[in-house]
Amino acid sequence: MHHNNNSRLNELIRKRRSIRAFSDEEITAEDLTTILEAATWAPSSMNEQPWRYLYARKGTAGYARLWNCLADANKTWTANAAALIVCVARKNFSRNGKPNRHYMHDCGLANENLFVQAISMNIYTHAMGGFDMERTKNELQVPADEEVVCFIALGYAGDPSQLEEPNRSRESAPRTRKSVEEVSTEIA
Ligand SMILES: Cc1cc2nc3c(=O)[nH]c(=O)nc-3n(C[C@H](O)[C@H](O)[C@H](O)COP(=O)(O)O)c2cc1C
Repeated sequence: MHHNNNSRLNELIRKRRSIRAFSDEEITAEDLTTILEAATWAPSSMNEQPWRYLYARKGTAGYARLWNCLADANKTWTANAAALIVCVARKNFSRNGKPNRHYMHDCGLANENLFVQAISMNIYTHAMGGFDMERTKNELQVPADEEVVCFIALGYAGDPSQLEEPNRSRESAPRTRKSVEEVSTEIA
């Protein structure tokens, strides 16, 4: 187990974390567009770019439609996020209709680009796999050859005291990871 105290790590990688306490500050349309553009610059198999993003800002009808698709455990803290984004993936290559076995992977790359761009603007993101898949597909009319990858809540950081337990204590807990030795092996 280790903590992110290696000062040689990229500052944005160290700073990014999945917060739950968001402030009331809105994200400008321009900033949101830049954050989404960062996702588009991710590498992908055959440059397929299997991702697409649906999003809504807090206080809109669209936001309520997306928020209603979330699992109850995610509904509590996301209520204060400035925006919700849904990542949807095309499962097949557009050039020949064959299955693209890298679509989830490549959406993950795009999403991390999005997260890192956001944190460079002091905007925090939080990916969620906790949502009702059927409801989301119906609500957003996702065709059969596409998959809903995840939801992403984002906004500026707010006061953790707005959260209920256990999320309040989680918010200030140090981030931990498996050690590099645990997850990597040099091949002889
Ligand atoms: C695909 C994916 C799904 C996740 N689903 C949820 C979720 O439904 N609810 C939640 O609170 N956090 C969710 N998380 C956040 C993770 O718990 C979090 O990234 C992990 O604990 C590491 O913490 P960090 O992002 O702050 O470094 C998800 C993250 C990913 C990448």
